Amino acid sequence: MSADEDALVAAAWAVREHAYAPYSRFRVGAAVRGASGRIYVGANVENAAYPVGACAERSAVCAAVSAGERQIVAVGIATDTDAPVSPCGLCRQTLREFGADMEVVLASRGDARRRMRLSDLLPMSFGPEDLAADDGAD
Ligand code: THU
Repeated sequence: MSADEDALVAAAWAVREHAYAPYSRFRVGAAVRGASGRIYVGANVENAAYPVGACAERSAVCAAVSAGERQIVAVGIATDTDAPVSPCGLCRQTLREFGADMEVVLASRGDARRRMRLSDLLPMSFGPEDLAADDGAD
């Protein structure tokens, strides 16, 4: 545990308060740290047209990238659950675009924490380098 991690996880807990989750009642907060060192946050934002809802992780990535970040070094995810909740497949791939081996910290009830790398959650992932490996000439 470090001061950087504490700040990231605190930001995830704080933004969770703003989650818009009237349908699932499952509130999630996420915070990402860009290469600049700045933290960006996102909460889940649901919609009456259910599939339109956005997860907290993707909201946070969109905030970071919209602010000019192109590399994410860590993500913290906070849920008020007994066990840590790990990001869905869509969010894993979204995160991967900006840091294949970023740190992941999952915080749950009582601020219990579990730490891992994104590459543990998404092994053998597909990314921008794979597209670049094809010169486009058949
Ligand atoms: N959700 C997230 O925001 N992040 C996760 O890691 C898991 C699920 C949201 C999506 C939806 O608003 C609610 O939690 C229930 O699935």
